[in-house]
Amino acid sequence: MKSIRNRCLLSAMLIGGLFVPGVAVGANNGVEVSHLGPTNTLVRVTGDDNYILFPVQEVFEDDAKINVLVDGKLEETIYVKLARTKTDYTVPYDLSPYKGKNVVFDIVTNQNRNSVRDAKDDVCWDGMVIVDEFDTTNTETQWRPAYHHTPLYGWMNDPNGMFYKDGVWHLYFQKNPYGSKWQNMTWGHSTSTDLITWEHQPDAIKPDGLGAIFSGSSVLDPQNTAGYGEDAVIALFTSAGTSQMQSLAYSKDNGQTFEVYAGNPIITLDTEARDPNMFWNKETGEWNLILAHALEKEMLIFTSPDLKTWTLQSSFGKGLGAQEGVWECPDLFELVIPGTDQTKWVLISNINPGGPFGGSGVQYFIGDFDGKTFTSDTNPDGTVPTKWLDFGKDNYAVVSWSDAPDGRRPVIGWMSNWQYAADVPTVQFRSANTLPREMELFADADGELHVASVPSPELEKLRGKIVSSAENKNISPKGSHYKLPADGICEIDVTFQAEDNELVTFTIDNPDGEKVVMKYDNKNHTMSFDRRQSGVVDFSDKFPAVTSSPTFEKDGKINLRIFIDRSSVELFGNNGQFVMTNLVFPEKPYSTLNIESKNGTAHLDSLKIYSMNL
Ligand code: FRU
Repeated sequence: MKSIRNRCLLSAMLIGGLFVPGVAVGANNGVEVSHLGPTNTLVRVTGDDNYILFPVQEVFEDDAKINVLVDGKLEETIYVKLARTKTDYTVPYDLSPYKGKNVVFDIVTNQNRNSVRDAKDDVCWDGMVIVDEFDTTNTETQWRPAYHHTPLYGWMNDPNGMFYKDGVWHLYFQKNPYGSKWQNMTWGHSTSTDLITWEHQPDAIKPDGLGAIFSGSSVLDPQNTAGYGEDAVIALFTSAGTSQMQSLAYSKDNGQTFEVYAGNPIITLDTEARDPNMFWNKETGEWNLILAHALEKEMLIFTSPDLKTWTLQSSFGKGLGAQEGVWECPDLFELVIPGTDQTKWVLISNINPGGPFGGSGVQYFIGDFDGKTFTSDTNPDGTVPTKWLDFGKDNYAVVSWSDAPDGRRPVIGWMSNWQYAADVPTVQFRSANTLPREMELFADADGELHVASVPSPELEKLRGKIVSSAENKNISPKGSHYKLPADGICEIDVTFQAEDNELVTFTIDNPDGEKVVMKYDNKNHTMSFDRRQSGVVDFSDKFPAVTSSPTFEKDGKINLRIFIDRSSVELFGNNGQFVMTNLVFPEKPYSTLNIESKNGTAHLDSLKIYSMNL
């Protein structure tokens, strides 16, 4: 546990007993506070420790705008929900790069205050302290996942810019360093050698004069096409200022730090476009880029010889697939058709709202790509099918790692939904990513191709002790109970054969009656996931939900791998052919699995419940 040490605690100072606007009136905690008017305050750093803490109150819609001045020059502008009546938590601003310099925060609170006196009473001013360390010990042991990626603290949305190099998986993500709600979009960074355990790294790309750093992608450039060297990592991202533009950054230290290209932006369009995703096309010998033309609900496809100059070649998707929400976070990659030496291309289009159960969702198209144009496969009647990658509510902004080894195409998603992501009952970390999954094609019983999300092979190393097991027995209407590990963190691996029965029901619950109910429907070949009584569900009326997935088989033979990690349940059916990712917030860990059959019997081939090696 790290400690927070207050440097200099000076008492507040009034000049002649009166508050004088424009003059330093409060010198406390290593800062000097000067109120300049109802909405403007200057905070000067007088202490010399590493951080200033900003007190945050989350209820506000509007953020205080803070211009950071270093020796009189504007260093950056950040936005923070400064506390007025109560401090929910504090966020650190790192002063260590400015040791020995004058640091002043010019703060506009923009909260319609009547007088400077009202503004002066805000609790944030006394709460701004200079400290040596910021305590990042996990305080949310009940719900912070044990084997999923989470940010050290604060808000996270889309994973993006992921690449693999020299045995290291790099994961960047949309991060707010100054609060647990969306703002100040920055590329946070984590690395892993096994796709499961993550190390937090310093932020990789920070907002600049062109705007915040929205989602994008990274590639290796072994042929030095961009001119930053054979070992360079090139990132493209959306600069989101007044408008959205595409920009480039490069790294010469394996993605640890990035320099932004001085000639940014590199692509401008006259309507919203974002989340550039690029890849080397080995058949055409040039770079491709797919870009979400968000409001037009289509994807744009570009080519480039050098990652800087891009030529628009085509668009895909106008009027196709799910069209309710904006199209975001595209991806385009080639997969082998199993059992053949042929391939198909998969185009991913994350959309929000308009997902299969409301809010965010991931649709995809299977088709062909000639380096310039993507053409979707069609149904026998010529229409383009709408396909979904996940049949839960909480898997969004799914994109893949570039340069993965062994022909793999691993992806990860943001395990939340824009409908309630900012309201979930965790604060220190606000959101986790899904488990990593491998994209693979499979043909269903009718021969139609779909994309499976196969749990990444690394996950098997997490399997610890078997806490419950069963083999070769009937599943009866009375049901059988199996114990989960005491911490509720586990993988359930179960294979069954539905016979003459209607439903096979899997219920995980705790002694308080909080439960998740998953049902296989043998007639319709669907699986449902009911989290209406899963625990705390009342923070949003969009959260209690039953989601449902086709199972793509016709013979009633099902394998389920169900991963439970404190606040998430991910169900993978038949090696990822159907997937449901759903958040849950139980007050106590789930402790029991109950398996029962309705109207007839089913056969349990095998069941293993693993605790996890953490
Ligand atoms: C998707 C998204 C992206 C954008 C990012 C901003 O969740 O809206 O389109 O780049 O979030 O944080």
